[in-house]
Amino acid sequence: MAQVATATTISQEFTERFAGSLTRYQRARQVIPGGITHDGRHLRPFPISVTRANGAHKWDVDGNELIDFVVGHGSLILGHNNPAVTAAVAAQLEHGTHFGAGHEGEALWAEKIVELVPSAKRVKFTSSGTEATLLAMRLARAATGRPTILKFEGHFHGWNDYALKGEAPPFDRATSPGIPDAVMGTVAVVPANDIAAVDARLAEGGIAGIIIEPSGGSWATIPLAEGFLQQLRDVATKHGSVLIFDEVITGFRWAPGGAQARLGVTPDLTTLAKIVAGGLPGGAVAGRADLLDLLAFRDDATWNAEHKVRHPGTFNANPLSAAAGIACLTQCANPELQAGCDQLAALLRAGLNAIFVDRSLPGFAWGESSAFHLALGETISNQAGDDLRVPEGVSAATLKKSGSSPLVNQLHLGMLLEGVDLFHGGGFLSAAHTKADVDATLEAVDRALGRMASEGQFEQRE
Ligand SMILES: Cc1ncc(COP(=O)(O)O)c(C=O)c1O
Repeated sequence: MAQVATATTISQEFTERFAGSLTRYQRARQVIPGGITHDGRHLRPFPISVTRANGAHKWDVDGNELIDFVVGHGSLILGHNNPAVTAAVAAQLEHGTHFGAGHEGEALWAEKIVELVPSAKRVKFTSSGTEATLLAMRLARAATGRPTILKFEGHFHGWNDYALKGEAPPFDRATSPGIPDAVMGTVAVVPANDIAAVDARLAEGGIAGIIIEPSGGSWATIPLAEGFLQQLRDVATKHGSVLIFDEVITGFRWAPGGAQARLGVTPDLTTLAKIVAGGLPGGAVAGRADLLDLLAFRDDATWNAEHKVRHPGTFNANPLSAAAGIACLTQCANPELQAGCDQLAALLRAGLNAIFVDRSLPGFAWGESSAFHLALGETISNQAGDDLRVPEGVSAATLKKSGSSPLVNQLHLGMLLEGVDLFHGGGFLSAAHTKADVDATLEAVDRALGRMASEGQFEQRE
């Protein structure tokens, strides 16, 4: 009997073309839990292993060239290997990587942040965004003497114990075991965009600080209603709570001064990481002088022993990160940088929605500034085949889960076969991306979605 030739599926072809990544993954799994070092890199059947990167592109162990929309989890707004950043780090490397002492770079780096970020009068460096949000929450509690932090459903503030309550659906619990109930009792979670609910919770008392991603949860995955940040500013002031903008993603991306500069609302404290350190590890808390000065020693033994907020950290403001940060922020001061990235992202979002409409496939793309997101297998009431900031007719929980859906996993594989690496089904544009990268990506998405449709992937899930 004649054999019927079966087409190679996306998954099969991925396993063949990325065989070197599979070998490395199998080795890593022996010593690294699950074979990955960041939960966000989870990909089935296995994640890719990269050997080098330059500009907006990277190359995996099998030599596949990929247009990179991960760009250092959003930290590389200048793209990979920006010459000024690379030169600054190389020059610092010659002088040493850790002096266990103050150095000129830390003040120069802090000055750059004060220059750019409206709320920043003082800066304290940390080693990551997770540490920055932890420190900001501690400062809010110390300043007010109140126990509780208010946060919003689906907003991500890193992986410290306080940050994980309400981070993912269902929003009424921590997204991880291992967090004591006592900690959970000191975090209150409310939906965003409901200022009456915020006001009511603040009126009950005990709220030291309110922390929010000013883009909306998970870099604008769950968009904020226009005006909500100003309303939040007003109620925070009314109730004497510290307003914290978590600008780990939006800092220096939404504008040279971050989302607060773009949207015209100034918080009391700002948390920064990613771009602030030019693609090297680093973070910072910036903000009002009276709040940050709670970290300072005084000529007063009682103050130092009982009132000063503690904050050590071996790698705070390490010289390599400071060098990279200064070189990066110097370039971020020019608003044309962010405007160029934003324009490309808008083209990409519009082109993606046009593909969904042309192919009559359930899905949509949305986002803000130079970030984009994709949902597959879902429909909205305002799909117009164009750029979109706020998808309508879809819940916050659905938006939040979109980047980890099985369909998006398949699209990720299909796009890798087309030479594109996505991040949670979306990603970031950088100054190194070009219109040609966007055009190539749109053609790639069209082919990958077509292939998924012909494999029956959309029907299987209906
Ligand atoms: C808004 C936000 N806050 C905090 C963090 C945590 O930063 P880090 O990964 O440097 O700990 C992230 C990380 O993606 C983030 O997006």
